[in-house]
Amino acid sequence: MGKRKILQAVLTAGVCVLLLCSCSGKKQGGAEKLQVGVACYDRSDTFINSVVDSYKEQIGSYQEDGLPVTISVMDAAGLQRTQNDQIKELLSSGCSVLCVNLVDRTDPSEIIDLARDNDVPIIFFNREPVAEDMLQWSGLYYVGAYAEQSGVMQGELAADAIKEHEEVDRNGDGKIQYVVLEGEPGHQDAIIRTENAVDTLKKNDVRLEKLSYGIANWNRAQAQNRMTQMIGQYPDQIELVLANNDDMILGAIDAFEALNTAEDARPVFFGIDGTDVGLEAVLDGRLAGTVYNDKEGQAEAMVKLTIALFTGEGMDDIAFENERCIYLPYHKITIENAREFQNLS
Ligand code: GAL
Ligand code: CA
Repeated sequence: MGKRKILQAVLTAGVCVLLLCSCSGKKQGGAEKLQVGVACYDRSDTFINSVVDSYKEQIGSYQEDGLPVTISVMDAAGLQRTQNDQIKELLSSGCSVLCVNLVDRTDPSEIIDLARDNDVPIIFFNREPVAEDMLQWSGLYYVGAYAEQSGVMQGELAADAIKEHEEVDRNGDGKIQYVVLEGEPGHQDAIIRTENAVDTLKKNDVRLEKLSYGIANWNRAQAQNRMTQMIGQYPDQIELVLANNDDMILGAIDAFEALNTAEDARPVFFGIDGTDVGLEAVLDGRLAGTVYNDKEGQAEAMVKLTIALFTGEGMDDIAFENERCIYLPYHKITIENAREFQNLS
């Protein structure tokens, strides 16, 4: 063997040892090593990406305090089968805690069985399993937010704007002609947000006329398509657009922009999330309001829970609801306070 080959062999062996160490879980150089597996339903989702980024950033401070942490993030790209395989991979690489953003929130059984067999706890986040599934095993937790609250807040923001600006009722018929852009069917944040927003508007004595709705799966480009179709069906009639998230409301605004609709012929728009792009749109006046989906708070709760599950300490300081769930509150955002929500992480 020539010198170069020997060097190559030594380097390869070194890399293998390193890889083995990084996958073999707890003990490393005397210190306990925390290995977290994060499984996302789809990493092209703006809000999910920001939760994961904030989680990584916040858990990094424990790393600075001397706890070695590695995080593997998986993207199921919308397929539950893919996610199940990714969970197997994460478990066999020695993860001590799993954070799971289910693809299909009604289908977690295979993942729960795998985790229970390996005695690795799961923190579900953002896509809430149904209550019966949460009871399948005591090692299951959930971190998220109350969907109803976000819908009520969106409805209140819209009701306030309509009362303050009578020009929203552009045709002056005393009713607000509106359309809704909805997230994935079956997601707790889709139907519940829509129902609560509309009910709240009605409770606030706003007379409504629903023209149409479109399902756009949280996605900006799909929302632009649906909105363009609805504008074609109801030209110049739409006075209010509600969307279940910011990416979809931004897609709706894109549709009006692409058609060069004059400012005074556009509806008012309301989203939910307060993503970076959503906040910018509020600040530049294109989006009348949104509702903050507390990504930093949710990530912080997930980090605290991860550390408590790993170290066995600090569990008593966590305020759970329904024994193993944590819900972070939403906040209303308008141009008045949008800046306070920027760069929180
Ligand atoms: C919602 C959020 C959406 C989308 C969805 C994914 O809470 O508002 O933007 O990220 O979760 O499950
Ligand atoms: Ca009207």
